[in-house]
Amino acid sequence: MGKKLLLEHDHVPGINSYSVYREKGGYASVEKALKTMTPESLVEEVKKSGLRGRGGAGFPTGLKWSFLAKPPGVERYLVCNADESEPGTFKDRYLMERIPHLLVEGMITSSFALGAKSSYIYIRGEYFYVAKILEKAIEEAYANGWLGKNILGTDFSHDCYVQIGAGAYICGEETALLESLEGKRGNPRIKPPFPAVAGLWGCPTVVNNVETIAAVVPIVNQGGEAYAQIGIGKSTGTKLISASGHINKPGVYELELGLPVEEFIYSEAYCGGIRGGRKLKAVVAGGSSVPILPAELILKTAKGEPRLMSYESLGDGGFITGTMLGSGGFIVMDDTTSIVKNLYTFSRFYHHESCGQCSPCREGTGWMEKILHKILDGHGTLADVDLLWDIQSKIEGKTICPLGEAAAWPVAAAIRHFRSEFEDYVKNPGNIQDVKHYYRLNNLQPA
Ligand SMILES: Cc1cc2nc3c(=O)[nH]c(=O)nc-3n(C[C@H](O)[C@H](O)[C@H](O)COP(=O)(O)O)c2cc1C
Repeated sequence: MGKKLLLEHDHVPGINSYSVYREKGGYASVEKALKTMTPESLVEEVKKSGLRGRGGAGFPTGLKWSFLAKPPGVERYLVCNADESEPGTFKDRYLMERIPHLLVEGMITSSFALGAKSSYIYIRGEYFYVAKILEKAIEEAYANGWLGKNILGTDFSHDCYVQIGAGAYICGEETALLESLEGKRGNPRIKPPFPAVAGLWGCPTVVNNVETIAAVVPIVNQGGEAYAQIGIGKSTGTKLISASGHINKPGVYELELGLPVEEFIYSEAYCGGIRGGRKLKAVVAGGSSVPILPAELILKTAKGEPRLMSYESLGDGGFITGTMLGSGGFIVMDDTTSIVKNLYTFSRFYHHESCGQCSPCREGTGWMEKILHKILDGHGTLADVDLLWDIQSKIEGKTICPLGEAAAWPVAAAIRHFRSEFEDYVKNPGNIQDVKHYYRLNNLQPA
């Protein structure tokens, strides 16, 4: 097992309580930051650490923080993105459920760095019970003097709130999240202005993922340089991966970035191999939006080098032969999997979740779902496969927010790597006997 920075104590009984968390060294980063650091020096430490946002895009956190506008007399906010709706991704839930104080500690330390008097944890509605766990942790933090006025006798005062969303994938997009937090419909905003300039209620705001904010705690405790020594190249530190699908040991794992993908899938310390000793067929490495890769390309790059769990290595080859680390939702598929059915499920999701503001996304996601349904129903043509390709290519880059890309990329990658499977459905509709059973099994209504 590699180094653990976030889940070191996740199995300690009672670690979700303040007393046990504190016994294990909890809240030391707040003490260190408030007593020995300035907001500027803390931002520098985060820059030195090389931490990249864990929400999906991997943008350098320290750099993002340094963009935060600081007009005099104007409030600034930290908003934690706990919407976690990307299919295959459930690592933030695990962290918040198991070690809620780690997130609360990260919120306080990060808010000190940003000069934010208030912060919000925006959590998806389906995680209602996790919101309750967080609210309890926040109450305990207030009761023990880590939140409220003049924390540890310093000038720094801070309030932290939990806001529950209504369960919409689009509200994970940072500007839609801010709209929703303001009580409006969660439609993404046109950027610029970016949240760093005009975010929550028009004030400068940083939006960060749960895991990003939690990672600030070990960075402050051990220093940015020490953190940067962990991992590989520009993929520093550890990463939480939620592994699911046809593996022997699904779950949430913390791994040091740079671990070979093969070791992650097959070693007993992680996924424990493919169920029933079957053959690996494909992997969606970073949540449903990222391009699917066939077994040969997920285990090795097109150059023949071992593929590693890192931003660079997974991205090697661009979208032609590579993919993305994304949100860390690692979905493993064995040789019994139908790529077309899997894609239909994803496409159905994106169509349902499109906010409808932009025509290419609103209409395109619907068309893609319908065409996939037609193919699965045994009525597809080869022209439909080409049409599917054409539609996805007309969504990418033509929408206000990247939900369009999130819907288009899986379609492009599935056709690129598994075109023969689509053609097989079209040419041999007689073989599609299990489709109705599949609908029944998954409680799906044909489009
Ligand atoms: C449709 C859509 C859904 C998203 N959902 C999430 C999410 O659930 N959690 C998250 O942290 N980021 C999500 N993001 C990314 C956020 O917009 C934003 O980049 C992220 O919260 C920034 O945090 P980070 O820099 O710490 O990664 C989503 C983006 C899009 C386009």
